[in-house]
Amino acid sequence: MSKRAKWSKGDSDESKNLPIYQHKAKLQQAVKDNSFLVVTGETGSGKTTQLPQYLHQAGFWNNGKIGITQPRRVAAITVAQRVSQEMHCSLGREVGYQVRFDDCTTQDTVVKYMTDGCLLREILADPVLSQYSVVILDEAHERSLNTDILLGLLKQTLSSPDKASKGRSVPLKVVVMSATLETDKLSVFLGGCPVFTIPGRTFPVTSKFGCAIGPKDTESSVYVKEVVKVTLDIHTSEMAGDILVFLTGQSEIEKACDMLYEKAESIDYRYDVQDRKVEGMLILPLYGSMPTDQQKQIFQPPPPGIRKCVVATNIAATSLTINGIKYIVDSGFVKQLNHNSRVGMDILEVVPISKSEALQRAGRAGRTSAGKCFRIYSQAFWEKCMPEYTVPEIQRTSLTAVILTLKCLGVHDVIRFPYLDRPEERFILEALKRLYQCDAIDRRGKVTRLGELMVEFPLPPGLTRALLQAASLGVEDLLLPVAAMLSVENIFIRPGHPEKQKEADQKHRQLGVQAGSCNDFTMLLSVFEKCKASDAPSAWCKDNYIHWRALKSAFSVETQLREILLRLQQKRDFPMEKFDGNKSELFRRCLCAGYFTNVARRSVGKVFCTMDGHGSMVHIHPSSTLFDQEPQLDWVIFHDLLVTSRIYIRTVCPIRYDWVKDLLPKLHEVDVYELSSVAREEVTDEEVAKWETKEAAKRQTEGSAEDAF
Ligand code: CDP
Ligand code: MG
Repeated sequence: MSKRAKWSKGDSDESKNLPIYQHKAKLQQAVKDNSFLVVTGETGSGKTTQLPQYLHQAGFWNNGKIGITQPRRVAAITVAQRVSQEMHCSLGREVGYQVRFDDCTTQDTVVKYMTDGCLLREILADPVLSQYSVVILDEAHERSLNTDILLGLLKQTLSSPDKASKGRSVPLKVVVMSATLETDKLSVFLGGCPVFTIPGRTFPVTSKFGCAIGPKDTESSVYVKEVVKVTLDIHTSEMAGDILVFLTGQSEIEKACDMLYEKAESIDYRYDVQDRKVEGMLILPLYGSMPTDQQKQIFQPPPPGIRKCVVATNIAATSLTINGIKYIVDSGFVKQLNHNSRVGMDILEVVPISKSEALQRAGRAGRTSAGKCFRIYSQAFWEKCMPEYTVPEIQRTSLTAVILTLKCLGVHDVIRFPYLDRPEERFILEALKRLYQCDAIDRRGKVTRLGELMVEFPLPPGLTRALLQAASLGVEDLLLPVAAMLSVENIFIRPGHPEKQKEADQKHRQLGVQAGSCNDFTMLLSVFEKCKASDAPSAWCKDNYIHWRALKSAFSVETQLREILLRLQQKRDFPMEKFDGNKSELFRRCLCAGYFTNVARRSVGKVFCTMDGHGSMVHIHPSSTLFDQEPQLDWVIFHDLLVTSRIYIRTVCPIRYDWVKDLLPKLHEVDVYELSSVAREEVTDEEVAKWETKEAAKRQTEGSAEDAF
């Protein structure tokens, strides 16, 4: 018997009950008949888990893999787990997943869940996706940056028959799945392709506004406390049924869960057990970086008499459906990456959700019976602070990485690329400017050799540039661990208890002292190396208030980055340079090569001023090892910014002005007008020569760079 027969079982009873099941044959046929298909249906109707299985049963895997993209890594992993169970195979075999730095697939994998970022990387290596028979872009309504770019790329490839058939035996099928929103727009964008609607059953949800959050409240302690209060009210006064709480991020969720544990313990259940049939509460957090074994619990029904309460990020709004939810607590906020024009960078911010998002959240309570949604914000907040729709990511974040990808794929005219929603031209120009500053593209807008190397790393451009600088000087061992540590969740534990907090701070300070030259980057390197060298690494972490799980991922990420680098180094013409000097200086100089755009100079007292043209006034974050040593610092570079009432710089390193002197003029030399013409069309050599002469003259009249500041 063939190996595959083992898992080619039919659909289970549970999956036969999903709304999508009625449409199985028609869906299989529709994918066969069309190169593009839009599929829409209520969240929870079975699109993500079932459609790939239907296509598998219809034999699509004979012509290549069935790939399904997700904007969120947790969704890719948990759904792959679920589907592998439904298909009776072990995860990573026939059904697998791939997310950044975690590839759980094998030669046998034919149903592959992955993040949209991973598929974009695959397109770089194989533009016609010759390994796939079908690609499903899931959660298109989320409008993530990578999904939007994939839509444009696949539209471009498939609408040009020469390109589409090159390197493929049968044409690729593309299915775009979305939870009801904007399907007409998608269909028009994809050349008027058919829209397949899965009729859903939903039950009414009554929504109630609260009064705790008005138009002026954005402090997280306010909404965390209120969310806890409302959840406990529901638990003590409403009938049986599980609760889903929407909060913003890991730390707020953990804080809320701690408060809930504490308060739920002291509830006296003796009086109304009879009425409500609820005797206790099972509190479960759900956020992106949680270990997957803990995530599994979310989907299991609670023990009899116990109420399940899931405290989640926006991931539970559409990506993951939890059965049995009857009550929603909506904080009204979401953590979102936005381009902040005040500081000229992307910043993770807590912002009010949109009205459509609020309706989606409420809808999660009405899947199997009527439900209730408790909003902690007032009607005035709804009217004054919440936009109608969420702005697509492509219109609010930095485009640097995707523009480099597009350029590497031969899309020269990045302004007229088919975007579903066009980003503002200034964002595109900003990205080009940044790429030029990192030496990833030249004056003509063409990708440089360095740019071709940079695109291979799944890291932010500045960090990649620093890493490649280190590699070219033969000191990659200094930068690889740092890049890995900056790619995983926060490694420093800061306990809630004040005594423990003091102890943790002290331990961390000690680690800083042991690291020798004191800056946050060497601190990361030192923690990485010390833990790696330890005989009992997990105990070492516990002792030093370091997250062992995060460090374990950092070890794995470092290995993967090293593999990418080795592969590139083995190719010909990997740039190499010579350098004399001490290692600490070398390390910081390499950082400067990537982070010179994030440079700040002491202004007055403890205030620094950024030098990228925005001139923002910034402070060193208290978590930095340099926090207490500010008086000795004049110039620093930093990894990122945190904006609250003040702007803080995090992961900071002191540098000497000399090291960035020659790089800083680059921040000001690119004329946006010139970039715009570069972006639109080929520019002649003559024109480039003209710009260069103009700039040289400008620099001469301005005198030295230091004077210019
Ligand atoms: O994609 P769509 O929102 O249409 O639905 P789905 O994610 O395929 O979910 C179908 C069903 O599978 C729901 O009842 C989910 O609760 C269930 N599911 C699960 O139990 N465990 C998972 N890891 C994923 C989905
Ligand atoms: Mg889905």
